[in-house]
Amino acid sequence: MPSTGVKIAGVGHYAPSRIVTNRDLEEWLETTDDWITTRTGMKRRHWASEDEATSDLAAAAASAALAHAGIDARQIDCFIVATVTPDYYFPATACLVASKLGVSEKPAFDVAIACSGFIYGLTIASGLIRSGIYKRIMLIGAETLSKILDKEDRATAILFGDGAGAVILEASERDSFLASDLGADGSRPELLYAQGSGARRPLDHAALDAKVHLIHMQGRETFKLAVERMVDATDSVLQKANLEKADVTFLVPHQANRRIIDAMARYLDLPDDKVVVNIAEYGNTSAASIPMALSETVRAGLVRPGDLIVFVAFGGGLSWGAVAWRWAA
Ligand code: UT7
Repeated sequence: MPSTGVKIAGVGHYAPSRIVTNRDLEEWLETTDDWITTRTGMKRRHWASEDEATSDLAAAAASAALAHAGIDARQIDCFIVATVTPDYYFPATACLVASKLGVSEKPAFDVAIACSGFIYGLTIASGLIRSGIYKRIMLIGAETLSKILDKEDRATAILFGDGAGAVILEASERDSFLASDLGADGSRPELLYAQGSGARRPLDHAALDAKVHLIHMQGRETFKLAVERMVDATDSVLQKANLEKADVTFLVPHQANRRIIDAMARYLDLPDDKVVVNIAEYGNTSAASIPMALSETVRAGLVRPGDLIVFVAFGGGLSWGAVAWRWAA
């Protein structure tokens, strides 16, 4: 039995001001607004400026969440950032974010599991609170994927955007965390990866010429696995929580492709207004997409106490996961 429950006490999000539309992409890529809209559901994405990095976006989202919760950053016991576009190879981006918020000496670490980062982070943070180790955790999903995009590759350049979403998790008598189901399969990393300056191929001029520092994806195969794994994770998390598909109030899925989200909605038999979709505005923001979508929905006043939310994601790793969450006042 947990010693305490956990709830979300505040949410916030931030996206850089530079907007890149499908029409903008047409200017330098062999693509069309029609192709991108039909195949992905994306219309725009936000890209960070040269002097904006992931910690800047994360700190802005965290500040918004603090204001929403009505608390000060010094009341946070631990900072977690889910990202695969950290400011530096090390230190962890979470250390930088805490410092930007005026906090020192509190624990801070990153979770690097690509698009599943928020789901893994929510599971870890909820565990830390439910076991009584911390009372309040700032969990942020933040990415500047535009910095590791091959802008000449139409298969990936159109897909990804930058942004950050933050949630403040707090100890609570009533428990919002119902169940989590996580998974990973590292046998085919090349389906979706950025080798970066990793130890497998340290960065040198030849590696740079081969663009190993940028995102590579085998889209069609990834698409197929995304639907399968997200459906399975949703089934499994509902089963663990002893709930039915019909009990779900909101699905907050990772925003990778509108067609993947629609397949999930059909599977759960959910009407459009119960499926949170903001992909047209932001594209795929990896670990940031779920907390950004949640923050927009909560701040629009659409989520009510007692609502059952299923968060679900799939991404590089390969990795996937779902969390079932009962919204609390
Ligand atoms: O966030 C982590 C998880 N990510 C995902 O789950 C993403 C999964 N994958 C996808 O969303 C889709 O596979 C994409 C949107 C990436 C691609 O859509 P698709 O329907 O799978 O297209 P495709 O890769 O099968 O390509 C179809 C055609 C190809 O041309 P040919 O070979 O049929 O002549 C591509 O070269 O579309 C072409 N194409 C494009 N055409 C115009 C690929 N990208 C573009 C483009 N504009 N941007």
